[in-house]
Amino acid sequence: MFSDVDIAKQKAAEEALKRVLSLKPRILGVGTGSTVDVFIDMLPRFEKELRNVTFVCVSLYSAYRVAQKGFNVSQLSVVSEVDVYVDGADEIDSNMNMIKGGGGASTLEKIVAYASRYKIFIVDYTKLVKRLGEKHSIPVEVLPEALNVVYKKLKELGFEVSIRMVKSGKYGFVVSDTRGVILDVKPSTDFDPKELELILKRIPGVVETGLFVDMADEIIVGYPDRVEVLR
Ligand code: 5RP
Repeated sequence: MFSDVDIAKQKAAEEALKRVLSLKPRILGVGTGSTVDVFIDMLPRFEKELRNVTFVCVSLYSAYRVAQKGFNVSQLSVVSEVDVYVDGADEIDSNMNMIKGGGGASTLEKIVAYASRYKIFIVDYTKLVKRLGEKHSIPVEVLPEALNVVYKKLKELGFEVSIRMVKSGKYGFVVSDTRGVILDVKPSTDFDPKELELILKRIPGVVETGLFVDMADEIIVGYPDRVEVLR
């Protein structure tokens, strides 16, 4: 049985695929997460149209899945421009600013989004919030060597901070595909995403944050019975 959220994800992914086909990318950036997984699962339906597309993925997991379906996957390191990017998000506010990185991939997500000419984000309706930070902390990826320095600085700045841990099996820190450690940072209720991004990025050792400000060209919000497109 599919839940309303599952159906909403499918609707958003289907709409994104339509958009991608109409934009005819040569290089398609693919994010990561459960909504993107649905998008990847739909790719073989359009094998003919997507056969000559080169995919650039933000996680080993997504790259593996896209390659398993028979599509061409390239390394991000040899690509400087991406035509279209499709990714999910954890929270979206009314200004289309986002928190991402729930899967610990915000660094590569931000690089590929930055390099992409057209950025599409696909979410189910539960991701819409009045204010960023309502439900999720902000992931901050740090160099392992800087873990304690950054942790202490963030505490001094008044943030609640936790080191992201592996939830199942043996305990340990989550390590990203870019070998960073993720700090989940809970900001005060009232913050300006752009300003906070600057504060965080000013700390040496911070590699990237999960705040995506002024990044989306289009957000496709799936509902159980429809999609809405924010631009
Ligand atoms: C991973 C991400 C994902 O896009 C985000 O967590 C949304 O995931 P899902 O589609 O599973 O809700 O930013 O780092």
